[in-house]
Amino acid sequence: MVPSRLRDELRESVVRAEHPREKAVDVMFALQDHYGYMNDRAMAEAAEILGMTPLELEELATFYDFIYREPVGKYVIRVCDSAVCWMNGLESVLDHLQSRLGISTGETTPDGLFTLLPVCCIGYCDRSPAMLVNRKVYGNLTGERIDEILEDLRRQAALSQRND
Ligand code: FES
Repeated sequence: MVPSRLRDELRESVVRAEHPREKAVDVMFALQDHYGYMNDRAMAEAAEILGMTPLELEELATFYDFIYREPVGKYVIRVCDSAVCWMNGLESVLDHLQSRLGISTGETTPDGLFTLLPVCCIGYCDRSPAMLVNRKVYGNLTGERIDEILEDLRRQAALSQRND
């Protein structure tokens, strides 16, 4: 179950909204951050907070690409595979990521740290090739830059594990 403070905050934001449904994605993101993905329990809790039926929420979750109904890594790397990124070196970026992580697109590293997925244009074309890690955007990707990003994420994960 989510901590009661978070639950209360989410309930308040739903009450303040004109329509509870407009808060559905925010509530699912908050629960997804807590559980790591939207498992059935998280879906039921989100539906209860929103005053929606689980089926209504399921329809939204299915439609929205950034809600994960299956387990994913702590960091979900979504590499833009749209035209401008392709033209600006996506292929080598993807090769580099796959080789550094030891996984292919659609997979999660055995340590549960990284999931690699494609995404359509994220509006960062002027800094392509680009990718998202969870909800943060990274652009002007090169092999060197990717190594720095991965190292930083591994450091953050180790720190947060120590603080748990
Ligand atoms: S095509 Fe990749 S960010 Fe737009």
